[in-house]
Amino acid sequence: MLKVRTRQKLGTVIEVPGDKSCSHRAAILAGLAQGVTEVSGFLPSEDCLCTLKAMEQLGVSIEVQRSGPSGPVEMKITGTAMKLSPPTGDLDCGNSGTGMRLLAGVLAAQDFESRLVGDDSLQSRPMGRVTVPLESMGARFVSEGEKAGCAPLRISGGDLQAIRYEMPVASAQVKSSILLAGLFAKGETTVTQPATTRDHTERMFADFGINCRVEGNVISVTGGQTPQATSLQVPGDFSSAAFWLVAAAADQGSALRVQKVGLNPTRTALMKVLLRMGAHITEELLDEQGGEPIGNLLVEGRGLKGTTILEEEVPNLIDEVPILAIAGALAEGKTVIRNAEELRVKETDRISAVVENLRKIGVEVEEFPDGMEIQGGAKLRGAEIESYGDHRIAMAFAIAGLFLSEGEMIIPGSACIATSYPGFTEALDTLSQGGEVTL
Ligand code: S3P
Repeated sequence: MLKVRTRQKLGTVIEVPGDKSCSHRAAILAGLAQGVTEVSGFLPSEDCLCTLKAMEQLGVSIEVQRSGPSGPVEMKITGTAMKLSPPTGDLDCGNSGTGMRLLAGVLAAQDFESRLVGDDSLQSRPMGRVTVPLESMGARFVSEGEKAGCAPLRISGGDLQAIRYEMPVASAQVKSSILLAGLFAKGETTVTQPATTRDHTERMFADFGINCRVEGNVISVTGGQTPQATSLQVPGDFSSAAFWLVAAAADQGSALRVQKVGLNPTRTALMKVLLRMGAHITEELLDEQGGEPIGNLLVEGRGLKGTTILEEEVPNLIDEVPILAIAGALAEGKTVIRNAEELRVKETDRISAVVENLRKIGVEVEEFPDGMEIQGGAKLRGAEIESYGDHRIAMAFAIAGLFLSEGEMIIPGSACIATSYPGFTEALDTLSQGGEVTL
């Protein structure tokens, strides 16, 4: 259980752990590569550790070079040159939709049987969005879940044919799953996305020497290419940084530097929204690492005003909506978030979880099938919130806890935070007492 009271003064410097999306992809591509890939900045969160373990079960060997308090951050991964072995037992993806959907793409191409399982939340999330296109490439999936189309997934793969696929939802997980399968397929696989989604797979393909053609929202890869081992530095996770960006932006008088964070433009739409809300954020581009831009962000707290999120911004801030809703609650005026129905099939139904908890802490909010409208500026009162085991709900309301007018924020089951951000609670402690958090 996590308890949060009103802040004293936010500290001035924070570094966040490695990017979750890049860490999953690093584990998978390094495991498929020819040669030894050196990975640093890996995110040792439960989600990514599940993917790493699944790759080990598939014959990949991992030598840990350095570990942090929650697991390995630096490692050497000896790839299989695209020749995975039949797994020893089920592959457990834990809470991770990314892990399961990306691995489904890889396993669809293997000439052995495998079975993907996950926790209750993951086993109630839709998998048809990947199994349907992967079946049209030639794989067979049996959904053994209690809910139709859900995991556990039994996969009989091999001998894939390339496809041209128009994705019905804007999902980087679906795109990446098909592109990974496409690496093994005969011919050129082409995916068309209805809107731009995070492009870490395309960027990391290039880093591993894989030829991948990107023409706007149409991405193609020709099968038969073997990724070549490389050296990878995973950037800090912008989605983790988002919690501190909002806290600092809403906190009059604070000045926070978020260091060495990934600034891939397909991830940073929250920044544009915060600027529109009146935040002062200065971007200092440092470098490109593995094709991913890295930089520092300096946020000066001047208070926020409400805004309307644009439809085209939604895919590039999809994971930030819970904390954006908190920004809306702390802002003067109305904040409107629509076109975000995908939130209903995340780790929990994030629209209803955010709405329910905002109401508990005294915020007036209207729920829509695809989002919410928040009346900002109310005095927030502490309450016991329900995270539904969703890491981003727990963290968003922990940040709201820094801004209470009365009481304290009680977050039972806060262990779920380790899904994506090990060290969050400690960082919150240190930062809210004016300290600095570097890794
Ligand atoms: C992810 C893509 C997003 C995001 C998830 C990570 C990825 O999901 O919500 O946390 O790494 O590809 P969708 O692509 O399904 O929207």
